[in-house]
Amino acid sequence: MRVSRQIELLDRLVGADTELPWGFGPQSMRNPAAAYTDADRFTREREILFRGRPQFVGLTGECAEPGGYITADLGGIPIAVVRQPDGSLRALVNACRHRGAPLLGGNGKGGMRRIVCPYHGWTYDNDGRLLNRPGSAGGFDDVAASCDLHRRAVAEKYGMIFVHPTSEAPFEVDTVLCGAEDELADYGLADYVHVETRVNSWKMNWKLFLDTFTEAYHIRWLHRTSIAPYFMCDLIFDAYGPHPRTIGLRKDVVEQLKTKPREEWRLLPFSTTQYFLVPNGLLVYQLDHIEVWKVTPHDAGSCTVSTSLFAPEPPTDDKTRAHWKRNLDILLDVTGREDFPLQERVQANLASGALPEVVYGRIEPALIHLHAAINREIGA
Ligand code: FES
Ligand SMILES: [Fe+2]
Repeated sequence: MRVSRQIELLDRLVGADTELPWGFGPQSMRNPAAAYTDADRFTREREILFRGRPQFVGLTGECAEPGGYITADLGGIPIAVVRQPDGSLRALVNACRHRGAPLLGGNGKGGMRRIVCPYHGWTYDNDGRLLNRPGSAGGFDDVAASCDLHRRAVAEKYGMIFVHPTSEAPFEVDTVLCGAEDELADYGLADYVHVETRVNSWKMNWKLFLDTFTEAYHIRWLHRTSIAPYFMCDLIFDAYGPHPRTIGLRKDVVEQLKTKPREEWRLLPFSTTQYFLVPNGLLVYQLDHIEVWKVTPHDAGSCTVSTSLFAPEPPTDDKTRAHWKRNLDILLDVTGREDFPLQERVQANLASGALPEVVYGRIEPALIHLHAAINREIGA
């Protein structure tokens, strides 16, 4: 993020008028509990938000080498993104044209030469062309239709990869980011290397995953013994189309505002900058590393959350590897012991039908922006 913007954002802390605290939005919002629990609504969200538009699948560093690949469940559609010999990407439906077996699993950093089905061994080139059907003895010779893998549109820019799960029509990453590229382009994301990914499933609506990161109001209470001593309970919030961008601040940011001239103020060393990639992604800039979160909804009440850590350079020794492992341990300890278990209990309460609605206050402006955008897009 350019220095001038960092200073402008910090101006909000000192230049706030006295009517409202600096992190507040103009008005609160109420949302029906059914937004988190209703099966018909979930079907609509999946069609419109998760299948009807490009989805974030990961960073370049996850499949930088030819033969590298990323697999993803995008609104229930199995997708594999494969790096081609010329460096381009191909997005394929990750289901064998014979009888539908899944072809690739997990991620691969590079070196895969062929895609081989685990069921009967049909073999595809990395671009999805069927190469052979071993042992079939001409048993498919009368099949006239192409059995190449189905393709989907993929785009890569700023080190980020997006796939449209139901369309082959080309799209622009900038159109997906709605202006967030203005900041995201600065981070050099394409150069980050993938260190580790951890995956957990939770009995919560996918939006409760996003809700966890859209406000810092809960820090003072839920995280009072873990991170509250170090972090402010307000966020700097802006939005790019539906995507909130929120910045959490360490408390010691205030000291430099008092002691340094304005032109020497810096935001990034004191902050956690979060770019939401609605509906399924969250990219967090942490100064010395990047965290990438992805949420995969299964139904209205359950989802899988993956957390990946990317470093500026490959870890070459045990000390560095231990450092990154510790980072992920701490992160998943706070979210996995404090945030998401609570969200599972929230989900259970909302599903009980005893609560008609939830309330988002002016102290939670990014939360309000997010839900207003989602509700608008699905016509709720
Ligand atoms: S399902 Fe893939 S080879 Fe039969
Ligand atoms: Fe939290």
